[in-house]
Amino acid sequence: MENGEIPENANEHCPGPQSETAGKSDSCAGCPNQEVCATAPKGPDPDLVAIAERMSTVKHKILVLSGKGGVGKSTFSAQLSFALAGMDHQVGLMDIDICGPSMPKMLGLEGHEIHQSNLGWSPVYVEENLGVMSIGFMLPNSDDAVVWRGPRKNALIKQFLKDVDWGEIDYLVVDAPPGTSDEHISIVQYLQATGIDGAIIVTTPQEVSLIM
Ligand SMILES: Nc1ncnc2c1ncn2[C@@H]1O[C@H](COP(=O)(O)OP(=O)(O)OP(=O)(O)O)[C@@H](O)[C@H]1O
Ligand code: SF4
Ligand SMILES: [Mg+2]
Repeated sequence: MENGEIPENANEHCPGPQSETAGKSDSCAGCPNQEVCATAPKGPDPDLVAIAERMSTVKHKILVLSGKGGVGKSTFSAQLSFALAGMDHQVGLMDIDICGPSMPKMLGLEGHEIHQSNLGWSPVYVEENLGVMSIGFMLPNSDDAVVWRGPRKNALIKQFLKDVDWGEIDYLVVDAPPGTSDEHISIVQYLQATGIDGAIIVTTPQEVSLIM
């Protein structure tokens, strides 16, 4: 019963497994899912509520994506962040390229560690008004390869969105890994409720790079 869909073996007048009366209404009598429906948690994912709360201090969210790798996303994300910060905006730069985080190296921040306070994880500040968050800060050795399956990546992205203490910022620039995979699906899904202002697609003129 993924995503609250009505199962095939449900009763004819199924109120929907996500509804308040799931498993308890008269129309559920005799349905094989009654016990599961009655006890399953209802309402929105509490993590999504926490993300929405955290993102309420972020005015604009911009994703930087590409079809192929190595086309300049991270370079562009960094330049865009510096440009916005140079215009006196408060900026956050979040690197969600979990398997190949390049922000620490690109910004000369290797060796920095993330500090945790009771407000959450504090970004590393390259300028007074430009904070950076990258999985690279959490790896003991920057040469280590990170080989993670989807669910673990998704959990980390969720935690980034939920627990990083950006404070009041004008722009959050998200540097994504190449392609359209777990990370991209999760970030869009997690930010759906709070809104994404736009996505910037980086590409090069080669035809293989233009294919999304
Ligand atoms: N406009 C540009 N002109 C020439 N070289 C560039 C340009 N932008 C980036 N590069 C170079 O291309 C290489 C890849 O850049 P970058 O790491 O920003 O790409 P990426 O899309 O983030 O890669 P990945 O998909 O691995 O995350 C780097 O060596 C960078 O210096
Ligand atoms: S128990 Fe009720 S809500 Fe659940 S599937 Fe059956 S009819 Fe639908
Ligand atoms: Mg990159």
